[in-house]
Amino acid sequence: MFRVQVAHGRTELAEAAAKQAAELAFFPLWSYAHPMAIDLAERLAHQAPGDLNRVFFTTGGGEAVETAWKLAKQYFKLVGKPTKHKVISRAVAYHGTPQGALSITGIPDAKVPFEPLVPGAHKVPNTNLYRAPEHLREDAKAFGRWAADRIGEAIEFEGPDSVAAVFLEPVQNSGGCFPPPPGYFERVREICDQYDVLLVSDETICAFGRIGEIFACDDFGYIPDIITCAKGMTSGYSPIGAMIASDRLFEPFRKGTTSFLHGYTFGGHPVSTAVAMANLDIFEREGLVDHVHEQAPVFRAALERLLDLPIVGDVRGEGFFYGIELVKDKTTRETFDDDESERLLRGFLSKALFGAGLYCRADDRGDPVIQLAPPLIVGPAEFDDIEQRLRGVLTEAWAQL
Ligand SMILES: Cc1ncc(COP(=O)(O)O)c(C=O)c1O
Repeated sequence: MFRVQVAHGRTELAEAAAKQAAELAFFPLWSYAHPMAIDLAERLAHQAPGDLNRVFFTTGGGEAVETAWKLAKQYFKLVGKPTKHKVISRAVAYHGTPQGALSITGIPDAKVPFEPLVPGAHKVPNTNLYRAPEHLREDAKAFGRWAADRIGEAIEFEGPDSVAAVFLEPVQNSGGCFPPPPGYFERVREICDQYDVLLVSDETICAFGRIGEIFACDDFGYIPDIITCAKGMTSGYSPIGAMIASDRLFEPFRKGTTSFLHGYTFGGHPVSTAVAMANLDIFEREGLVDHVHEQAPVFRAALERLLDLPIVGDVRGEGFFYGIELVKDKTTRETFDDDESERLLRGFLSKALFGAGLYCRADDRGDPVIQLAPPLIVGPAEFDDIEQRLRGVLTEAWAQL
C-alpha cells in the first residue's frame, strides 16, 4: 500500500510511540492542540511549498481528501462565491472511500454499490501516455497540453461559477503510475488560476519521498492550493493524514466567530504525530530524499530491462514508484479481456509474486499492471533482485497464457 518509506523493523518508531503514549496518550485537536501536533504541523508547513502553512490533521488519506473538498466549498461561500462547489478529477484515479472522496474517485466499479454519492464530481482524461490518442503518443508535451486542456474544457462545460477544485495526484497511482507529461502541471496551474479553481495535490501516495521530495509537487515544480497526504508520514507505523492549505484559504476563517466545523476524534493523535516526527528524523538523518533522487534512474533502468519480455508493454513511473503494464500483444498494445485479466492477476500473479518474495500490487482497476513501491532505503542490489524475481514470474505467466 505504498507507505513503508523507512522499511520495517525500526524500533525507534515503536519507541517514539511508547514514549508518547506514556506521556500524553490522547488529546483532541477540536479547538485545542497538543505539543506534538504543533511541532509536526510546523515541520510540514516548513516543508510544504509556497504559503501552504495551515495543517489540518486526519487519520488517513480519504479523510484528508474529504476535508479538502469541504474546505473548498466553505472557502468559496465565505469569499462570496457560494455557487462554487463542484470538483474535477481524473479517470481511473483513486481518492479514498468516504462518500465525497469516493465521488472524486474515477473508478466506476468502486462506486456503483454505494450510489448515489456526493453530486458534482466530474472526470477528465488522465495522463496515460501509453494509451494516449494515437496522434499524441510520440509527443509527451503535446499530450500533456491536451490532457491539461481537458480540465479547462470541463470547467467551461460545468460553468466556472460552479467549480471549486481540481483533485490530481502528482503521479496517478490507479491505472499504474501515470507521471505528468512535461508542462502538464504548469498548464493546469494556469487553468486553475484563470477560473479561480483550487488545485488540490492528492499526495496520499506520492508525498514523503516516494517520488523524491517530501512533497511531490516540488518534484514537478507546481504549487497547489492544498496538499492532502497520509501513508508515508509515519511509514505506516501509526495512522495519520493531513490536509495542508494555503494561508490565502485560511484567511476568511479568521474573521469573527467563523470556523471550519469539521474534524476527527483521532485526527492528529499524539502517538501518530510522535511517530511522524521520529519518521521524519530518519528521513533527515539518512538523507532519504537525496537517496531517492540518486537511485531512481538506477531503479528505472533495472525495471526497463524487463521490456525484453513479450508480456511487458510499458514501464513507467517516477522516483521509487513504478508500474509495469502487461499486454497480450506488444506491437498492437492489445490488453487482456476481463476473464484473462482475472486469471492472470488473481489466478496467478498475486500468489506467484508473493511466493517469489515480492510484496507488490497486481492491479487491474485500469489495464493490468504490477506496481512497485519499495522502501526508500533500497539500492542497486535490491533493484537487480526485484528485476530477477519479476523476470521469473512474468516468464512463467507468459508460458501459462
Ligand atoms: C491518492 C489517494 N488518495 C486517497 C487515498 C485514501 O487513503 P486512506 O486509505 O488512507 O483513506 C489513497 C489510498 O490509497 C490514495 O492512494
